Amino acid sequence: MKRYLIASALGALSVTGIAQAQSVEVLHWWTSGGEAAALGVLKKDLEKQGITWNDMPVAGGGGEAAMTAVRARVTAKNPPTAVQMLGFDIQDWAKQGALGDLSALAAKEGWDKTVPVALQNFSKYNGKWVAAPVNVHSTNWVWANKEVLAKAGITTPPTNWNDFIADLDKVQKAGFIGLAHGGQPWQEATIFDGVVLSTGGVDFYKKALVNKDKAALGSDTMKMAFDRMSQLRKYVDKDFSNRDWNLASAMVIQGKAGFQIMGDWAKGEFLNAKKVPNKDFLCFRVPGTQGMVSFNSDQFAMFNVANPAAKDAQLKLASAIMNPSFQSAFNVVKGSVPARTDVPDTAFDDCGKKGIKDLAEANAKGTLVGSMAHGHAVPASIKNAFYDVITQHFNGKMDSAAAVKAMVQAAE
Ligand code: BGC
Repeated sequence: MKRYLIASALGALSVTGIAQAQSVEVLHWWTSGGEAAALGVLKKDLEKQGITWNDMPVAGGGGEAAMTAVRARVTAKNPPTAVQMLGFDIQDWAKQGALGDLSALAAKEGWDKTVPVALQNFSKYNGKWVAAPVNVHSTNWVWANKEVLAKAGITTPPTNWNDFIADLDKVQKAGFIGLAHGGQPWQEATIFDGVVLSTGGVDFYKKALVNKDKAALGSDTMKMAFDRMSQLRKYVDKDFSNRDWNLASAMVIQGKAGFQIMGDWAKGEFLNAKKVPNKDFLCFRVPGTQGMVSFNSDQFAMFNVANPAAKDAQLKLASAIMNPSFQSAFNVVKGSVPARTDVPDTAFDDCGKKGIKDLAEANAKGTLVGSMAHGHAVPASIKNAFYDVITQHFNGKMDSAAAVKAMVQAAE
């Protein structure tokens, strides 16, 4: 008995001994209320395993500032354990040899069978797993305040462009702001994803924004997409410049504005404010994009770490991220949907259930496209050149004809 007690005490000691030595440093841009709540789910999960979480938040939706911070850390030969990353950025770092290899863990846990191939295309480099996908977001969503819509006489969400514009008009006439928007390039690009899909459909989107086809980029359809951006611009309030996306969400939440076009991370803000889908707010696809999904997946890119304890903690982080129950718990809060196909939708609210169904259907039908705004259509250099054009046009610095020409140049 005595010997057993000593042995188990020693066991406990050594377990905590290792655990205390383990930590992960995670760089991310999840700083809004809803995002922080979701991140809390991951932090707690790791802390339960005795792994210390060193938080490295770099604010700025879309992750531009975070990516600058990562470059500085890698240049200083001191990369974080894991970095929240989108699409082509993961591939860029993998190409530079900066990422570790998660393939043994992936094989053991069967990631190949459960992660959609559209995501694997970004999580793997030369056949090796280099990142763990935590979610699938999508950008072609509209968020609406139900009470504001009712006051404006709108009972059902619009399903085509002209009805959307008519509804924006009604909301403004009823004394509210039509479109809640934050004037930052990535937010304008997020709207643009949905507008291009709605204007030209999936094939056009792919030609123009994924394949950088010059004829598509320079086409009348693209010009029409820009004209529609100008239409939307009329429903934005005068203080929009440089407003953060979550403050724009708050305008809808608080009943100051009718609609926001934003990825489903916006839902995290509504939930964080204790709002209920279909009771307080509506989620629907950008009118004209029903059945289509422009996705972006947050993945944790795992950087090369030298010491074995750090590597072990990194693998535990990756394994925690890929755990099906964690994927449910996390994505319920984040507004996104799981990055695995085997997670039930039972714990999700109406918008989440729709998101899961839409993703599966779009994946099966070939109407799933990578979000240009969030790094899943073209590499960062071209994405940033597109951002410039879209933002200049949105701010009236160029007309639609000039914007179309500039898009062709930006793709070169
Ligand atoms: C990320 C989301 C994040 C949003 C706003 C997107 O690029 O994929 O996870 O919530 O930016 O910060």
